Amino acid sequence: MSDHSLLEFDNIDKYYGDTHVLKEVSLEVDEQDVCVVIGPSGSGKSTLLRCANRLEEIQAGEIRLDGTALTHPDADINVLRQRIGMVFQSFNLFPHKTAIENVTLAPQKVKGIDDEIAYEEGMSILEDVGMGDHADAYPNQLSGGQQQRIAIARALAMDPRVMLFDEVTSALDPELVGEVLEVMRALAEEGMTMMVVTHEMGFARGVGDKIVLMADGKVVETGEPKAFFENPQTDRAKQFLSRML
Ligand SMILES: Nc1ncnc2c1ncn2[C@@H]1O[C@H](COP(=O)(O)OP(=O)(O)OP(=O)(O)O)[C@@H](O)[C@H]1O
Ligand SMILES: [Mg+2]
Repeated sequence: MSDHSLLEFDNIDKYYGDTHVLKEVSLEVDEQDVCVVIGPSGSGKSTLLRCANRLEEIQAGEIRLDGTALTHPDADINVLRQRIGMVFQSFNLFPHKTAIENVTLAPQKVKGIDDEIAYEEGMSILEDVGMGDHADAYPNQLSGGQQQRIAIARALAMDPRVMLFDEVTSALDPELVGEVLEVMRALAEEGMTMMVVTHEMGFARGVGDKIVLMADGKVVETGEPKAFFENPQTDRAKQFLSRML
C-alpha cells in the first residue's frame, strides 16, 4: 500500500480574474475508489475536474497523480491527459467519424498504436460499453445514451489511471440515463478509479466510496455514502440533501 492516494488535491486555489472559485480545496481519491462530488450550481465542481486535467490552471496548491505533481509547470500535459480520462455532459464526438473511429483515433495519433491493434482494442472496449453492434454508426445515427457510452469508450481507449465524469447524464432523456450509469457502475466494479460529478443520488449512494459536498468553492463535507446521506454533519449538507432527496 503506497503512502499517497492515486489523485490528490492539496490545498488548491483557483481564480477566474478576481473571482475566487476554488478555496483551499483538499481532497484525496484512493486507487479503485469512486469519489462522487455533489453540490449546488456554481459551487466549483466542474472547475475542480477541469483543474485535474489541466484544462484550467490553479493559482495555489498542488494536484498530484500517483504522487507526482501534475500542476507543475514542467508537467507534460499530453502525458497527463493520457492518464486522466474525462467525459463531459456534451459528448463532443467527432461527427464525421464512426463510433470505432472515434475510439481508435487518439490511441493511433497520440500513442502511435498500430491500426490493427487499436481496432481490436477499440472493438473490445465498445463491447464493454454495450456498443459493439454499433461500431460503424456515425454519432448522428445514435441516441444520446449511445453517444455518451462511445464517449466513455473513447476515454477508456487511452487506458487512463483515473476517469473524471462531469454530469455525463444531465443532457440525456430520462429513459437513457440508466444505460450510461450502468456502464459507469460496471467500470467501478472492475476497479477503475473515478471522480464523478453527478446529481444522481442513487448512483452516488450505491456506487460511491466517498461523497464530497462542495459549496461556494469549498469542500464542506466529506463522508462515506451511508453516513453522509443518513447522518450529515454540517447544516450545509443537511440543507442540500433536504432539497435533493
Ligand atoms: N470560464 C469562466 N470564467 C469565469 N468564471 C467562471 C468560468 N467558469 C466557471 N466560472 C465561475 O466559477 C464558479 C464555479 O463554476 P463551476 O462551473 O465550476 O460550477 P459547478 O459546480 O460545476 O456548477 P454547475 O452545477 O452549474 O455545473 C461559478 O461562479 C462560475 O460562474
Ligand atoms: Mg458543472
